Amino acid sequence: MRDTKKEVAVDESELFRQLEYMHKIREINDAYESKTGIKKKFYSLAMGCQMNAHDSEKLEGMLDEMGYERTNEETEADFVIYNTCCVRENAEQKVYGKLGWLKHYKKDKPDTLIALCGCMMQQDTVLSTLRQKYRHVDVVFGTYNLYKLPELINSRMESGDSVYDIWQEQEEIVEDLPSIRHFPYKASVNIVFGCNNFCTYCIVPYVRGRERSRMPEDILNEVKKLAADGVKEIVLLGQNVNSYGKNLDDSVSFAKLLRKISDIEGIERIRFMTSHPKDLSDELIEVMRDCPKICKSLHLPVQSGSSEILRRMNRKYSKESYLETVRKIKEAMPEITLSTDIIVGFPGETEEDFQETLDVIRKVGYSTAYTFIYSKRTGTPAALMDNQVSDEVIKDRFDRMLNVLNPMIHELNEKLVGKVVTVLAEEISKNNANVLTGRADNNALVHFEGNKDLIGQLIPVKIVENKTFYFIAERI
Ligand code: 5AD
Ligand code: SF4
Repeated sequence: MRDTKKEVAVDESELFRQLEYMHKIREINDAYESKTGIKKKFYSLAMGCQMNAHDSEKLEGMLDEMGYERTNEETEADFVIYNTCCVRENAEQKVYGKLGWLKHYKKDKPDTLIALCGCMMQQDTVLSTLRQKYRHVDVVFGTYNLYKLPELINSRMESGDSVYDIWQEQEEIVEDLPSIRHFPYKASVNIVFGCNNFCTYCIVPYVRGRERSRMPEDILNEVKKLAADGVKEIVLLGQNVNSYGKNLDDSVSFAKLLRKISDIEGIERIRFMTSHPKDLSDELIEVMRDCPKICKSLHLPVQSGSSEILRRMNRKYSKESYLETVRKIKEAMPEITLSTDIIVGFPGETEEDFQETLDVIRKVGYSTAYTFIYSKRTGTPAALMDNQVSDEVIKDRFDRMLNVLNPMIHELNEKLVGKVVTVLAEEISKNNANVLTGRADNNALVHFEGNKDLIGQLIPVKIVENKTFYFIAERI
């Protein structure tokens, strides 16, 4: 049994060690550029959750420091890195598919380096498959030692052999790694790593370890630095942000942390994910209600509407208590929007159980729902449960669920048409250079006419059209 780590300690010397490796590799890459006139390029792909997307910002920051330049074309890359996910089987299949393609790519371009990291790499079966069938992979590491990328690349360059470095736990984090933020005005900040919940379908606690909260001072310092750098919106990340601080010596609740963050000048919006419904406190609802900087949108994964399935999922709440939490949230903040995760086809799910899920969907009125087909994950208790539901039944339920969800989302969104909302302009639309996209306070995705000079500003717009999954708006 592993220790429960109380808090995450900081190791400053490790940052300097890695910086040395980064500079060493940079010299090699710079020399290559002087000789050939070509800069080496990296292609980085983050699969899965926001946690991975944020980790990849750090991987990309380190690669940049090592003298690689980003490319969005995989076919141009000299260095390919996939930050993998293993929450569902299809995420793993995607990686193997890409590795098959990379084998051919590397035949034409043998100097290409391929790195794999993240959750999937924490599984022994994956490692042995890679070692046997995918020998063209150069560097493999897991979720705990991401900051070691420069050292591992250096080992690969020096030895010429593939380098595998997978840890089973980590007591320290390395702060202040270089990072390339995907959005200049919006930044993610980790507040708690790992998960203690052991939902019976989920592999995350096995690959990301036990909950470790960062010290409040470290979080506040990071947010202050981001604010000084022009960031306006902060997204606080954790598998279960509501249990933030529980294990710290000087216990601080998530709600108290939020209050402190909202005092930081320059930060105009605060979001967070994910909230486990069993841990959502009245104190948190109050802070959300009272603090104008905290966005009025909440991701509250229900997973199933059936109390019996929830019990077997080990979610530790019932349909009734979930609906009661939603009632309290809506009473305190009538304008709030709710989003959720739903799994269809958990072992033993009957038609009656499924109807309970539809009932919750109808009663809550979600503005967004991430819907998943249950995926059997080896090593989790649910994989050993009887009555796995057939693919045919799952597919039928999944389609029926979308037929309930999508019209409801559309109808709920209609209420926003004609309203004025404030949008943080994030980027130019991929399809139209004269259109900006951004999110309203309630997380609605909004498209409106504008140019790149407006990016990073909070802009009041009037919603004119509901497109179900986004809105068209006009500046006022
Ligand atoms: N099968 C399907 N969906 C899953 N999730 C987690 N594990 C599984 C699984 N084995 C979903 C949950 C979780 C989201 C991130 O992924 O809904 O909230
Ligand atoms: Fe997985 Fe449950 Fe932890 Fe979320 S709370 S990461 S679903 S075990």
